[in-house]
Amino acid sequence: MKISINTFRKMKLNGEKFACLTSYGYCEAVAASEAGVELLLVGDSLGMVVQGHESSLPVTIEDVTYHVRCVQRGNRGAFLMADLPFMSYYSENATLENAARLMREGAQVVKLEGGAWLAESTRLLVERGVPVCAHMGLTPQSVNHLGGYRVQGRDPDQAKTMIDEALVLQDAGASFILLECVPSKLGQAITESLQVPVIGIGAGPHTDGQIMVLHDLLGFYPGRPAKFVKNFLAESADIQTAIKSYVHAVKSHEFPALEHCYE
Ligand code: KIV
Repeated sequence: MKISINTFRKMKLNGEKFACLTSYGYCEAVAASEAGVELLLVGDSLGMVVQGHESSLPVTIEDVTYHVRCVQRGNRGAFLMADLPFMSYYSENATLENAARLMREGAQVVKLEGGAWLAESTRLLVERGVPVCAHMGLTPQSVNHLGGYRVQGRDPDQAKTMIDEALVLQDAGASFILLECVPSKLGQAITESLQVPVIGIGAGPHTDGQIMVLHDLLGFYPGRPAKFVKNFLAESADIQTAIKSYVHAVKSHEFPALEHCYE
């Protein structure tokens, strides 16, 4: 069954969890979409896991466009999200032009990082038929401003601001909010405050969907994994089984477990 944007709205209404996974190439797109992943993200994490950079900042719109093209060929019906990379939405023209490039290659929703200041860009895109996902919490494109990859929203004032800004972005027309590295209670509060589906990574068990970076799921990325990461390949015979096991764990509320969550 081909998944549309309405699938996620219905799943949220029915309290049904959905599984999302990053994808950068043809084979992984085939594997993930056939394993039941409902949403594939061509994330700018490709800067780290594919290109070997220290952050996502060097990733260009040409890079994301190329990977969307590869993933699109392998996708067997999952919804396809693509990142607008660092500084590719600095002006109205850049936002529209770069989103159009990704949508022409097969993306069905674009993801931008930020808070309420994204409301204008969100409106601009949505009015022209481009669905938007707003990435909040830990926004890796702002790592230099944030001073590192840290949990966001622990301070009650910051948490309240994040809830308010998520509502502003929903009002501006965002179809999804993605929350990265926030305490579980904040993940729950934002998910319950919004009508649109919330996707979490390190945001606790209450978000409507979960997302993982493929290389984390396979225990493949060098270095110490983040708290929210689980290596599903460690207990599976092969990649396809590991992805299926992730999908099952999300849908049965087994992942993320307490040990993957922040307080
Ligand atoms: O780029 C990416 O892979 C992401 C995920 C961390 C959600 O934005």
